[in-house]
Amino acid sequence: MDHFLYRDGALFAEDVPMSEIAAAVGTPFYVYSTATLLRHYHLFDDALSGMDHLVCYAMKAASNQAILRTLGDAGAGMDVVSAGEYLRARAAGVPGERIVFSGVGKTAAEIRLALEGGIRQFNVESEPELELLSAVAHSLGKTAPITVRVNPDVDAKTHAKIATGKSENKFGIPIARARQVYAMAARLPGIEVVGIDVHIGSQLTDLAPFELAYTKVADLTAILRADGHDIRRLDLGGGLGIPYVRDNSAPPLPSDYGALIRRTVGHLGCEIEIEPGRLIAGNAGMMVSSVIYLKSGEGRDFLILDAAMNDLIRPAMYDAHHDIVPLIEPPAGAVQATYDIVGPVCESGDTFARQRPMPALAAGDLVAFRSAGAYGAVMSSEYNTRPLIPEVLVKGDQFAVIRPRPTFDEMINRDTIPEWL
Ligand code: LLP
Repeated sequence: MDHFLYRDGALFAEDVPMSEIAAAVGTPFYVYSTATLLRHYHLFDDALSGMDHLVCYAMKAASNQAILRTLGDAGAGMDVVSAGEYLRARAAGVPGERIVFSGVGKTAAEIRLALEGGIRQFNVESEPELELLSAVAHSLGKTAPITVRVNPDVDAKTHAKIATGKSENKFGIPIARARQVYAMAARLPGIEVVGIDVHIGSQLTDLAPFELAYTKVADLTAILRADGHDIRRLDLGGGLGIPYVRDNSAPPLPSDYGALIRRTVGHLGCEIEIEPGRLIAGNAGMMVSSVIYLKSGEGRDFLILDAAMNDLIRPAMYDAHHDIVPLIEPPAGAVQATYDIVGPVCESGDTFARQRPMPALAAGDLVAFRSAGAYGAVMSSEYNTRPLIPEVLVKGDQFAVIRPRPTFDEMINRDTIPEWL
């Protein structure tokens, strides 16, 4: 559920007509709903109630500081994967003790930054990382709290580019090697084992792979405890999917996911962490764009928008479906059309949808892409020297630009031409 609804024929973000935002900031832009962000955070928080837990928002999904502040103030922790994300979370006011550091390629500089600034735990993904972490922590006279991310070899049944829990993926340590790695961790100076981490992929629409993975983690907890390790925390990753197609798909609810966690690992007495990204931000954000031209092709009509693949890359990169709806609700019985919906970028991959049935539209009409809050703005680029599009946050009847559109001068003047040229 989200807070983007038609009222009297106009699409609103909470209590703000989206056309009012478009008039104020111009198109294209991203808009987020505070109430939806918070609703989704609380669904997870409530799903784990009664268990010692922390919901660490995977901020890679949408990392504007206003979003982080909104969630952080509600009590969320953060899952970060780079120095930039760590600094951004801290700048938004999230304390180090609520930040977990994931990722297969943490550098010495990133490790130092987090150790000096304060960190809840590192989710370690390899033996060489463990060695580096130990060396850096030791040299700083600090102790690094760690979990080891295990790869449970479970098929997440999601898009190949976002599955992470199979043995052929680069993530984690094969679960069969976990005892060795924990023994190594226990021997290394500057390392304190606190738990186990697992994350099997993103946009999972079935709970069965989670069940398999968490059952393996429960078994491993017993084994590692018997080996003498103090396993007191389980980080169960993110990955719960969202409906991208209205009325047509219903991924599992966070409450069912919470019940599954309780059933599989609840008896272990561990503190539970989860790292949801998409489910918190996805349906809390939309991208709004204008129709520049309606162009007739050979046997098909193209709707050419002012947004492009550089602004929202998911359709080009993952063949992702985003519902696209007009800002003015079409009246019952309105003329229907079928469009290829494309952007202005000079490649055919710049296609948002092919042969999409839509109400008939004309140049100047505004449309909104649903479910664009996660992995939308954060994956955008300036390809074709198109400025990054603004982000807007709505709360009730208020809205604010939380990242302005850069001017062409700002964008172009970042380049420097060498003196010798
Ligand atoms: N934890 C870790 C270690 C992750 O790698 C990820 C996502 C998450 C948590 C959050 O997963 P979520 O709850 O959002 O599914 N750009 C792709 C998605 C990439 C996901 C990468 N890792 C997309 O647009 O679909």
